[in-house]
Amino acid sequence: MTAKRILVTAALPYANGDIHIGHLMEYIQTDIWVRFQKLRGRECIYLCADDTHGTPIMMRARKEQRSEVELIDEMSSRHQRDFAGFFVEFDNYGSTNSEENRVLCGQIWQALRDADLIVSQTIEQLFDVEAGIFLADRFVKGTCPKCREPDQFGDNCEKCGHTYRPTDLIDPVSALTGATPEVRETEQLFVQVERLHDFLDEWTQTPGHLPTEIANYLKGHFLCDPLRDWDISRPAPYFGFEISDAPGNFWYVWFDAPIGYIASTQQWCDRNNQQLDDWWRSDEVEIHHFIGKDIAYFHTLFWPAMLKTAGLSLPTTVHIHGFLTVNGEKMAKRKGTAVNAATYLKHLDPSYFRYYLASKLNSRVEDLDLNLDEFVTRVNTNLVNKVVNLASRSSRFVQQLGLSPEYPDDGGLFADAAAQSDEIANLYESGEYSKAIRAILALADQANAFVENAEPWNLRKDESRVDEMQDVCTIALNLFRQIAIYLTPVLPALRGQTDELLGVPIQNWDDVRTPLVGTPVAKFQHMMKRVETKDVEAMIDETKEEAAQEAALEQAAQFDDSPQPLIDEPLADECTIDDFVKVDLRVARVVSAEDLPAARKLLKLTLSLGGEERRTVFAGIKAAYEPQELVGRLVVLVANLAPRKMKFGLSEGMVAASGPGGEDVFLLSPDSGAQPGQRVH
Ligand code: MSP
Ligand code: ZN
Repeated sequence: MTAKRILVTAALPYANGDIHIGHLMEYIQTDIWVRFQKLRGRECIYLCADDTHGTPIMMRARKEQRSEVELIDEMSSRHQRDFAGFFVEFDNYGSTNSEENRVLCGQIWQALRDADLIVSQTIEQLFDVEAGIFLADRFVKGTCPKCREPDQFGDNCEKCGHTYRPTDLIDPVSALTGATPEVRETEQLFVQVERLHDFLDEWTQTPGHLPTEIANYLKGHFLCDPLRDWDISRPAPYFGFEISDAPGNFWYVWFDAPIGYIASTQQWCDRNNQQLDDWWRSDEVEIHHFIGKDIAYFHTLFWPAMLKTAGLSLPTTVHIHGFLTVNGEKMAKRKGTAVNAATYLKHLDPSYFRYYLASKLNSRVEDLDLNLDEFVTRVNTNLVNKVVNLASRSSRFVQQLGLSPEYPDDGGLFADAAAQSDEIANLYESGEYSKAIRAILALADQANAFVENAEPWNLRKDESRVDEMQDVCTIALNLFRQIAIYLTPVLPALRGQTDELLGVPIQNWDDVRTPLVGTPVAKFQHMMKRVETKDVEAMIDETKEEAAQEAALEQAAQFDDSPQPLIDEPLADECTIDDFVKVDLRVARVVSAEDLPAARKLLKLTLSLGGEERRTVFAGIKAAYEPQELVGRLVVLVANLAPRKMKFGLSEGMVAASGPGGEDVFLLSPDSGAQPGQRVH
């Protein structure tokens, strides 16, 4: 085995949403790999950061009426809290909005410029006039230009898979405001990726860099044609880094996001007194990215092209996983299956999920289904009954005695488990966690069979067989400890509990080779309870409730009425129904409206209350209404108001209106069907 240092990353989660169990699959898969490497004694660092830039963050900040920085700071602490809750342990957690990232983006940009890869082109973009922004592909919907399927996003059709530009959509609408966007010309910067075609052919097709299915896909879909120029800038307004040599333009979020891997490394180096170049420009380092299949495109074409041009190290391997589904379906909040990390933790132990994932993960680009019934059974039958119970059933009897002074004859069980060390290690190393778990469970079966057969609970009843019983427990606990060591990457909590129980901390993978003897055994502390189906159900129900609440908030947000009118004119003192009925409000029709040239504010209205009943009213609505538009419409009249003598005549009532006055006056109108003379109750 090489002694290279290892740099590991998981994809940088978007700062515009909470972490859910789908994300967690990736961070846990990666965390297991990192913990495995560390336990093997390798120097390994696990880096991540929040991906903070782009239109969605900008829009969300606007909606919540706060700054982007305030929003991303809050999300970063939520994300870090969630990861910690699942024992996902990063060596550094940064932000793509950091100063380190800005500087690195500038350097890599300069390298692209120096290599003459950047060109400027005028392109057509869709502009939402209401929101005042250019619409990213995912913010436009319309009809697919190829198969005519309605309601498709601006980048590709979900029905026929055709890819296109948002301007190609038929009848496009802005997903933000519903407005029909305008086509506007903008000047944008592009990277001529085609110039790196030969390099990308070679790099992507070299075994070991990518999963074979991804390498083949790239070859069949992208690398068989000239590569399209990559649109790397966005015009203002955009939340991101402004391009220093192209003011008013910002780097597209997918330019600065992967550079965030390096920026996070920089922060770690600064804290640990190390040089960045020793990690990103060194042959002594392996670089491993873990990502989902949806973002393979960016990590396997553009990212290597950027790294290559900037003279930085290329990834040793890009590990690519499929998606987490729940009960065979795409996760959905509405169905209660897109469970947030925080919601899960209110109901269930994080070790369950880590264990379940490990028991199903492999190195292929396949979706992984969280079947909730299977989740309960696997955790209870395998993890709790086989692994945890092994410790509880064999530690109770030796709390006073401790372990035997010498390791007894166990018929080769311990040696056999130790001998599997390399095989299990290889399975972890190659991402075949489910096979590793299977091998470890087989060891647990052997150990349980041994205890079953030796019956320590019977031995302890017989004074003369205490030594024998101590030996049996010594064997069982050592077999348990081997299993806990093998499971340490998956179950860090179990490792801690094992350390407490047996008093000798697990430090290294090779600890499986040396049995503990003559050491005390602590009082058995409860390690892990069985999963209850009702807890799983409560978690799903709570997620559904969250979805309903979010939908209600979303609805309410559409009616974001200003609080100003109430501030300007607070509510009046309470009145009784008797007070109210004193005011006789009637539906009335405007039969004529007359401009009085001498009056600044007043129109003279003649109102009909039905039949021959007429009223003359002078209303202060001149600035807001043309007399002609009023004739024929219904209004609400305060009909029993004492007549008032005015400069132009007698006013016999008042028409009901709202607004501060001047141009801002709004007459009340009864719904159609109301008849003049009807009372308003
Ligand atoms: N911000 C980008 C990544 C930038 S990396 C330089 C992004 N963020 S994300 O929050 O949408 O997703 C983060 C990771 O979680 C991605 O690798 C994505 O594939 C993964 N997953 C998101 N939903 C998932 C599932 N349902 N199942 C498994 N992984 C999923 O993409
Ligand atoms: Zn289509």
